[in-house]
Amino acid sequence: MSRPANVADYREAARRRLPHVLFEYVDGAAYAEQTLRANTADFQALKLRQRVLVDVSKLGLKTEILGVEFSMPLLLGPIGMAGMYARRGECQAAAAAKAAGIPFCLSSLTICDVDEVAKVEPPWFQLYMLKDRGFMAEYIARAQAAKCPVMLFTVDLPVPGTRYRDVRTGLSGPPQAFQPLRRAWDGITHPGWLWDVQINGGPHSFGNIAAAVPEAKGLGDFWGWIGRNFDASITWADIDWIRQQWKGPFVLKGILDAEDARQATRIGVDGIIVSNHGGRQLDGASSTIAALPPIADAIGGEIPVLLDGGVRSGLDVVKALASGADACLIGRAWAWALGATGEKGVAHVISVMRSEMLTALALTGCPDVREAGRELLAN
Ligand SMILES: Cc1cc2nc3c(=O)[nH]c(=O)nc-3n(C[C@H](O)[C@H](O)[C@H](O)COP(=O)(O)O)c2cc1C
Repeated sequence: MSRPANVADYREAARRRLPHVLFEYVDGAAYAEQTLRANTADFQALKLRQRVLVDVSKLGLKTEILGVEFSMPLLLGPIGMAGMYARRGECQAAAAAKAAGIPFCLSSLTICDVDEVAKVEPPWFQLYMLKDRGFMAEYIARAQAAKCPVMLFTVDLPVPGTRYRDVRTGLSGPPQAFQPLRRAWDGITHPGWLWDVQINGGPHSFGNIAAAVPEAKGLGDFWGWIGRNFDASITWADIDWIRQQWKGPFVLKGILDAEDARQATRIGVDGIIVSNHGGRQLDGASSTIAALPPIADAIGGEIPVLLDGGVRSGLDVVKALASGADACLIGRAWAWALGATGEKGVAHVISVMRSEMLTALALTGCPDVREAGRELLAN
């Protein structure tokens, strides 16, 4: 077996190592997965300008966003259940991010809770609007006490989109025939994962919400609570309540429309993430890289604009910066690497993307990442 060299290789390595049900959960997206495909295809369609005879002997990747210094314009975005892809997976990924000098964003639906991850490094933390406002207030206070520097509030999930791959594997929808047997077989036939995660990676509860579901016996009970608790009634007026609970920088995740971006600046959020949840919500929605330019124009540099969705290389990051983003989050790219070889894999993916960014800057004749603008694009 050859060793993984890039993100696509880690995807294949994760496919081999993870039980089928987990690989499909990470890899899949909503409905016909058109938006998932558009996210990557539109990055590929965007062309960079090759420029020559510019002094690129010194290249700069450092940047600063929301008062946080970054060694490069990259973050590990929030991914649910990462602690099921590798033993205490959120902590492993946080360690890789810390070593690389970039932020790790902790999903609210994780195996390791915010305090466990904060022992590695206080993460940026993510939250959805839940009906149980008492739980939200408590969780935000916990994140504050754990010294999380930034809050991400995800707004593209008032209702969950359906991922048919998860229906097929029995992760969502009605249980399959012989489901416990199928699950056991899925585990036994992936012994590396079984030993690392199932046998040695416990406890397997949703750490951040464990207190809210004391009767939970397994991950299924947590999913049930979450499903019942998404608040579909949320509007712009509710953002004020959350902001009162949280003292630090507040970023809205899941903006895909320039009008919403303008509204976000009007109500005074500190940053936005252009995101379609990796194609896992509204299938048929625009790719994020196509949606970015009008959004960046609408924001006009007032607040940071981050982007995720389809970022698979450092070249993609440079394309996003050239299209108006300040930094990119990766989702599946680090989740696949974590599932393949844990912290080592995540660290490797970050370093591969770093070197891709450096090469892209050098060959587009842009020595400093903070200078990357639309003149880097050929179309
Ligand atoms: C397996 C998986 C779980 C995710 N869980 C969350 C989550 O808990 N909270 C959240 O805001 N976004 C979540 N997302 C969306 C990611 O944060 C991000 O928007 C998306 O993965 C970016 O697309 P990419 O995977 O193509 O990089 C998840 C995505 C995946 C693939």
